[in-house]
Amino acid sequence: MKGILLAGGSGTRLYPVTKIINKHLLPIYDKPMIYYPMTTLMFMGIKDILIISSPKDIDHFSALFGSGEKLGLRIEYAVQEAPRGIAEALIIGENFVGDDSVALILGDNIFYGHDLPVILKSAVEENEGATVFGYYVKDPERFGIVEFDKDYNVLSIEEKPSKPKSNIAVVGLYIYDRGASEKARNITPSDRGELEITSVNQLYLKEGRLKVKILGRGFAWFDAGTHEAFIESSTFVRAIEDRQAFKIGCVEEVAYRMGYITLEQLDNLAEELRKSTYGEYLLRVVKEEEGRF
Ligand code: DAU
Repeated sequence: MKGILLAGGSGTRLYPVTKIINKHLLPIYDKPMIYYPMTTLMFMGIKDILIISSPKDIDHFSALFGSGEKLGLRIEYAVQEAPRGIAEALIIGENFVGDDSVALILGDNIFYGHDLPVILKSAVEENEGATVFGYYVKDPERFGIVEFDKDYNVLSIEEKPSKPKSNIAVVGLYIYDRGASEKARNITPSDRGELEITSVNQLYLKEGRLKVKILGRGFAWFDAGTHEAFIESSTFVRAIEDRQAFKIGCVEEVAYRMGYITLEQLDNLAEELRKSTYGEYLLRVVKEEEGRF
C-alpha cells in the first residue's frame, strides 16, 4: 500500500499566521503538525509516501524529510497548483500509486488512541473498496457526515450538510483500492468549486463497497484547521506527553518501533537533535532500548 499525505491548501483561514509558513509546518506543541499524520501512515506499515503541497511550499517539505531514507521511508513530492480539492490528490498521485492500494491522509488530521496501529492495520488488510473512519462530533456542519440505519449500514454520506443526518464525521484518513484515482477523475467540482473527497466516497457507496469504521470514545481526533484547534491539540499532546513520558507523533521513534530503522540509526538521529527536549527524549528511548538487549 502507498500513502499520500496532503499538505497544501491556501491556509487563508489561519491568516496572518500562514501567510508565509505552510500550516502543516507549524508546531502542534513540540513538533511540526505534519509529523502526526506522517506517523499515522507509518503505523499502517506504509513506507512509500507522496507528499503533495502548493508550489510555494513543496521545497520546505523536501528540506524537512528529504528522500525519507533516514526514517527508512521512500518519500516523493508533488505539487498541487491550486487548492482544487482533496480528491485531486488522487489524480496527482495516480502514477505514484500505480496498481497499488492507497491511504490518503490530510496533513492537519491528528489521531491518538489505544491500539490505533492495530485498528489501522486491520482496516488496511480487510479493505475491499474504500474504508473510512467515523468520529462523533458536536459540529457536524463542518465535516463530511455519514448516515447509518439501525444496523449500522451506511445510507448516505454528505459534505458539510446544512441539515446533518447524524453527528458522525468522516475523518481525514481514507483507504482505497486501486480504483480511486479513476473515480476522482470522474467526479465534478462541488458548489464551492472543489473536487470533494466525499464525492469519491459516494461512488464507492453506490457500488456497495464503502466501509465505515467508528473510532469510539477511546480515541482523540483533531482537525487542526482553526486557531482554537491548534491550541486544543497542542494542549492535548502536552498533557499526554507529560503524564505518560511518551511522545505522540515522533517520526524517528515510530520509524524505530516499526522496524524501519535500527537502534544505531535512531541514535544518530537523536544526536543531531540533542539540544532540544525532543532530542533528549530520543536519546532516552535509545538508552532504554539499549538496556533491553
Ligand atoms: O478533517 C476531516 C474533514 O476534512 C472531512 O470531514 C471532510 O469531509 C473533508 O472535506 C475535509 O474538510 P475540511 O473543510 O477540513 O478540508 P480543508 O479544506 O480544511 O482541507 C483539509 C486539508 O487538506 C488541509 O490540511 C489542507 C489540505 N488541502 C485541502 C484542499 C481543499 C490541500 O492540500 N489541497 C486542497 O485542495
